[in-house]
Amino acid sequence: MITAPREHWGSRTGFMLAAIGSAVGLGNMWRFSYLAAENGGAAFVLLYLAMTAGVALPVLLAELMLGRGAQQGPLRALVHFGGARWRPLGWLFVGAGFLILSYYGVIAGWTLRYTAEAIWHGFPADAAAHFAQISAGPVAVAWHLGFLALTAGIVAGGIQRGIERASVVLMPLLFAILAGLAVYAATVPGAGTGYAYYLQTDFGELLSLTVLRDAAGQAFFSLSLGMGAMMTYASYLRRDADLPDEAVVIALSDFAVAFVAGLVVFPLLFALGLQQDVGASTIGALFITLPHAFAEMGAAGRAVGLLFFAALLVGALTSAISLLEVVVSSAIDRGWSRPVATLGLGGAVGITGIAAALDTAVLGVMDQIAGNVLLILGGLAIALFVGWSMRDPEAELAAGAGRVHWFFLWRGLLRFVVPAVLAVVLASAIPAALQSLRALFD
Ligand code: PHE
Repeated sequence: MITAPREHWGSRTGFMLAAIGSAVGLGNMWRFSYLAAENGGAAFVLLYLAMTAGVALPVLLAELMLGRGAQQGPLRALVHFGGARWRPLGWLFVGAGFLILSYYGVIAGWTLRYTAEAIWHGFPADAAAHFAQISAGPVAVAWHLGFLALTAGIVAGGIQRGIERASVVLMPLLFAILAGLAVYAATVPGAGTGYAYYLQTDFGELLSLTVLRDAAGQAFFSLSLGMGAMMTYASYLRRDADLPDEAVVIALSDFAVAFVAGLVVFPLLFALGLQQDVGASTIGALFITLPHAFAEMGAAGRAVGLLFFAALLVGALTSAISLLEVVVSSAIDRGWSRPVATLGLGGAVGITGIAAALDTAVLGVMDQIAGNVLLILGGLAIALFVGWSMRDPEAELAAGAGRVHWFFLWRGLLRFVVPAVLAVVLASAIPAALQSLRALFD
């Protein structure tokens, strides 16, 4: 087998922006603030920070270390360190990436369409009817495939000329748009009540197990953990790249974007008195309630809405790129060429996603299985591997340029805290996922 030399990132900033691009996505722009508003406001934000620091960050650092050390995609990274018995885990990662991208592409397809429509003719007055019309069916399939073609086009360019270049342009754009929108949102009448709704503190909410589960699950999904995305990106670092500080910056940036997105969304909804329409479905709020608000705001709403959906699209695109790269890099490790892997596997993802594009119930179940179960399972396995099974993770971590502090704390979290929390999450997520799967076939 002839393999080309492994590609590498052109700069540290390029890697950081790509990794932050993977983390910042649909999960940040709406789901986080929605969960906060529902579950204790500022108290939830604190719980989420604790989950990020105590559960997600240790796994993020473990993934980065495994990828950098193995210099191979997630299919082989654990085998590199732990031998053949870890091979099934590699397939779990690649399978989860494949599955997530196949429905993520459908939601991103809606986002692409809303962005294009904002340019063409603004937001429709009857947002609910519009969403019902476009969210499922052949048209949704077309936008889903269009979005994936965009994603594949970038991944086909390779690490430096494709992914890095796109991230370096797109991520600062996203930050700038979001900061601008947050400033604008602060000026709308009713902004104060919006903030209050978002951040109203209720520590009592934190006592419930489901809130704990939601916070942990969201921290995991939001940081793209448990399916090898961060591992894949780190595998294109040089062996001596620094990691601990990078992991902290990635996690903080991801949190900052999620937090600021909430500062944009709630004032807009409250300015128009739409808060009671937020309802039970997070997707509905994003694609119905907010567009409704933009439509009511007239010309300003069209501009603000366009910027909002453009930012959402950028977030979705840079996340989708990382999902496809998980699958593509694994195929490249097995001797495929990048163009063939991108086209073939991107096409297969597109075909799989058709089921989700035709029926939003299928999409919901795919999300539950992949997001709530497979990612958590993957994260649990990574924690157990690095915490208990891997030989000398301290030396491996220290291979980078920076000094390693807090090794025992990190190891201890991976050994005890992360497995305990993720086991609790799984215990409630698995029955829920099975139930929705069964309901789908009834
Ligand atoms: N982190 C992304 C988001 O918040 C989703 C994602 C999950 C991307 C897993 C890659 C891997 O939307």
